[in-house]
Amino acid sequence: MPEGLGGRPPREADHGLGDRPAAETGVLRPHAEEEYAGELARLAELDERPRPPGWRLSPWAVSTYLLGGELPDGTVIGPKYVGSRRLIEVAVATLATDRALLLLGVPGTAKTWVAEHLAAAVSGDSTLLVQGTAGTSEESVRYGWNYARLLAEGPSERALVESPLMRAMRLGSVARIEELTRMPSDVQDTLITVLSEKTLPVPELGTEVRARRGFTVIATANDRDRGVNELSSALRRRFNTVVLPLPDSVDDEVDIVARRVGQIGAALELPEAPAGLEEIRRVVTVFRELRSGLTGDGRTKLKSPGATLGTAEAISVITSGLALAAHFGDGVLRAADVAGGIVGAVVQDPATDRVVWQEYLETVVRERPEWQDFYRACREVS
Ligand SMILES: Nc1ncnc2c1ncn2[C@@H]1O[C@H](COP(=O)(O)OP(=O)(O)OP(=O)(O)O)[C@@H](O)[C@H]1O
Ligand SMILES: [Mg+2]
Repeated sequence: MPEGLGGRPPREADHGLGDRPAAETGVLRPHAEEEYAGELARLAELDERPRPPGWRLSPWAVSTYLLGGELPDGTVIGPKYVGSRRLIEVAVATLATDRALLLLGVPGTAKTWVAEHLAAAVSGDSTLLVQGTAGTSEESVRYGWNYARLLAEGPSERALVESPLMRAMRLGSVARIEELTRMPSDVQDTLITVLSEKTLPVPELGTEVRARRGFTVIATANDRDRGVNELSSALRRRFNTVVLPLPDSVDDEVDIVARRVGQIGAALELPEAPAGLEEIRRVVTVFRELRSGLTGDGRTKLKSPGATLGTAEAISVITSGLALAAHFGDGVLRAADVAGGIVGAVVQDPATDRVVWQEYLETVVRERPEWQDFYRACREVS
């Protein structure tokens, strides 16, 4: 058994493997490797395929962890990512080479989510994370100094404050970089040496930190962000890019939303309220129609609002609706519980989006006989 996972007794197969309830740890959101510790341990135990140097699991087991599946002993691994198997296989295979992985896609396509789970499965640690913002400094990518120590003792190993990236190199783990293209270009470029030479020089100490086997980088970037810094071609060449798409069909998206809403509701310990699949389907349909600018039957062209209406937004509209239904309603998710959330998500810019929404409401929602409760609820909050 690989180090770090050792000691924890495997759980029973019929026990909702690995789902350690958040209440047990008290933290609001456990890291993937904590929440699914049971699944990861069982996978490591049963995994007989070759593991790349520094990996906790074989590539096969990593993709099983992400996509779900059944193990030889009957243990069921729940899917984390719902979508193309091939995409995940390409992503995992990339990590087994010396190239870094860039997950690209529009907002809410599970880039961050997949990066976290990949890091948890490959290294058992998803926390070595640099958040890219316009203010990200070179220090947070390379290393900084503890200035009190630096002044008292001069430059020394003890005065060095390593970045998560440097730590990942030293440990031979996955480092995550969120929103890579939001970082200023010169800061992005500090990654080039790390990715091509696998070393991070510390000239002040006359030393370098050399990456151990198992080190790699998973970066995410949003391809719809405006005004961001393009990835330089030198850096882009060091990444394999995997584009995460929006879910293909309404059914896939309903499945993703229902699954995540169930998990989030359990973690928040919302009173038991069955997530009405019908209501989820309606929210997903509205968002899909508005973002594609076309009704589901392909007959009516629509204007799209400026707001992002992705899977993530649908998940949060339903979760809020469930809280309303559980605390103020009769416990069943109804149109009135989601109407406010939908309008809030669609109408971000009161001037332009409101027109788009009113038009959708009057020309599409109103005309659907089985959507009358929803039409009335939306009228009330619009
Ligand atoms: N295909 C999918 N399979 C499973 N979960 C998904 C899928 N698509 C979206 N989700 C869910 O959507 C939520 C948001 O995903 P996440 O935050 O990772 O998106 P993102 O691509 O990083 O967005 P952003 O660009 O805004 O950072 C997560 O809770 C995730 O579970
Ligand atoms: Mg993200």
